Formats: sequence, C-alpha cells, structure tokens
Amino acid sequence: MQDREGIPFSMEKKDMDLERDGGSNSLGQNPILSQEVVIAGPSSVDLATNISKAMGLSKICPELRVFSDGESKIRIKEKLGNRTCIIIQSAFPPHVDRHILQTLMLLKKCADDSAKNIIVVVPYMAYARQDSAFLEGEVVTAELLAKMYGNFGARSMVTVDIHSLRALSYFQKRMHSINLSAIPLLADYAKSKLGMNMNNSITVSPDEGGFMRAKSFALKLNNNVTCLKKTRDRSTGEIKVDHLASLNGDRIQGLDIVLIDDIVSTGSTIIKAADILKSGGCRGITVMCSHALMTEESTKQIKAAGVDKIVATNTVPKKEAMGTFVEAIDLSSVISSTISKMIA
Ligand code: R5P
Repeated sequence: MQDREGIPFSMEKKDMDLERDGGSNSLGQNPILSQEVVIAGPSSVDLATNISKAMGLSKICPELRVFSDGESKIRIKEKLGNRTCIIIQSAFPPHVDRHILQTLMLLKKCADDSAKNIIVVVPYMAYARQDSAFLEGEVVTAELLAKMYGNFGARSMVTVDIHSLRALSYFQKRMHSINLSAIPLLADYAKSKLGMNMNNSITVSPDEGGFMRAKSFALKLNNNVTCLKKTRDRSTGEIKVDHLASLNGDRIQGLDIVLIDDIVSTGSTIIKAADILKSGGCRGITVMCSHALMTEESTKQIKAAGVDKIVATNTVPKKEAMGTFVEAIDLSSVISSTISKMIA
C-alpha cells in the first residue's frame, strides 16, 4: 500500500489488531452509536474495551496508520457531533510522544465534529514528573500537556495516581480534573492474594515523597509502614537510596515487604531499595505500583535484585514476555464508575 510521496504504510501489530476488533469501529460496522461513546486510543485498546463494556457504551476504534517516517494518521468515520466523547489513551514508553500527539488528533476530531462534551482519560499521565523547573531553564511539561489538552477541547480529564498534586493543579486550572487512586485495588489484592497482615509484613515507601501513598495503603491493611530516603542528583539524574533513622534491622527482620511506588521505570529506585531491605534481613519483597513502565531488561534486573513479584495496574499494558513475575490488575471498574457519575 502506498501513500504520500510513495512512502509505504507501515502498520504496527497493534494496528492490525485494531482492524480485526469485533466491536463498533471506524469502518462503519456498527453505525448505531450510543449518546456517549468510548474512543479507544491506539495505546489503550484493551482498557478502553473493558471500560466500554462495563459502561454499556459503544466503542469506536479509530483507524490508525503509522508511516515509515514515524508519523501517525488517524481516521474516525463516525460523526461525533452532539455526543459525549470519552477518549481513553495512556502515554507510555517507548512511544510517549506519539501517544500524546495521537491524543491531540482524537481531541481535534471530536472538536471538529462539534462533540457535545469531551472527556480525556489518561490512565498513565506521562511528563507529570516534570511538574516544576528543577533547574533554571527547564520546561514544565506537566503544564504544557494541560494546556495542549485544554486548548484542543478537553472539558474534563481523568487520570490515575498522577505523580504529584502540583502536576494535577495545571489541569485543574483548565478543566474539571479527577485523579483516581489505585491504592484500594492494590490493597485488596495484597490482602486477598498475598495474605498480608500486620504480623507478617510491613509496607515500605522507597522515598519520603511516597510516604503518604504507602501510609494510605498500610491503613487499609492495618499494617505498619515506614519509608526510605531517596536523593536525586538533578543534573545527572542519578539516585541514592538510604536508610531512614527510623528503619532498622529489628523492624524488618523476617518480615515480608511490600514496596509501594507510583511508577516503576528503570527499576533503579526499587533495586536500590531492595538492596537495603535485603541487608536488613527481610524475608521477601513484593513491589506494588500503579504504573509499570519497565522494559523487559529492567524487569529482569529487578528480579535479579531479589524482588519476588511486581503487581501493577493495567494503566500501561503488560508485556507478555514479563510472564508471571509481573501481575496486572484491571482497573476499568474504577475508571468506569467515575465516568458514569460524570455523565449521569
Ligand atoms: C519518583 O519519584 C517516582 O515516584 C518513582 O520512584 C520513580 O519514577 C521510579 O523510577 P525508576 O524505576 O526509574 O527508578
């Protein structure tokens, strides 16, 4: 197939899956749309499918082409005028920027069609860690994203465990913004599947910034909680994880650890935390996080550092090669019940 300038279309595997999808799609197989429609962004098709099913709404799968020069082309044949459009699209590695641009394309299509309302659901909000200019001259990308989504017509934004309240505040200034927590879902899993209780385990945050998150998780399990101390060299990005005075061998000796973080990416934070916890004589380590951004390589390194399991939500789809070491918990019920209330 040829397109502009004779450059052949290249279709990612996911794109081909999209075209095979049996639901309402952009090829006009199901022209009867509900008043509120879920638009499955190319990065989050499975999650969008679960959400549309849970809400009993039509799902539109945009037709996507990714050209050999890296550009995306999006086509939605359905007319979206007068409908409430719910776009679901996370932005995660390795194509973070592509995912963001695709979201803008979807927003533009909804706005061009004069959609009645546009809700953008970004289960994992990339760039939220750059919520300030930490060094002079840095661009605050969390603010930039909020401006872009707002300028392209998003009236509401829903995300999950955004990295900081400061990042959230940029969205709140421009649109109705909801930040959901995966903690209740993770705590239920820890109780029912890992059998965590106060006598056999302790909850640990790898840094002081995540202490409140770990505390709210521990509260749900009536568990003890502590945190380590992480420092980052802002120029090189290198991190150091140390004991806090409050954490000593006595408190973790023989206990199962649940390390709670919002994001696991390169694994550096978790690997350094695991080293300290192992040297303190803990029994086992399970990592629980909202957003698992790891590559296969960093996953292997985390496993090699003595972590028994990673439990994450499906804001970022799990890579098959991660096998049973990484467990993905579906949070479509949490997202769909929130959107249901918004559109009621
Ligand atoms: C940082 O403050 C976050 O809460 C995470 O700890 C961090 O993003 C994890 O990244 P990595 O796995 O690359 O250390």
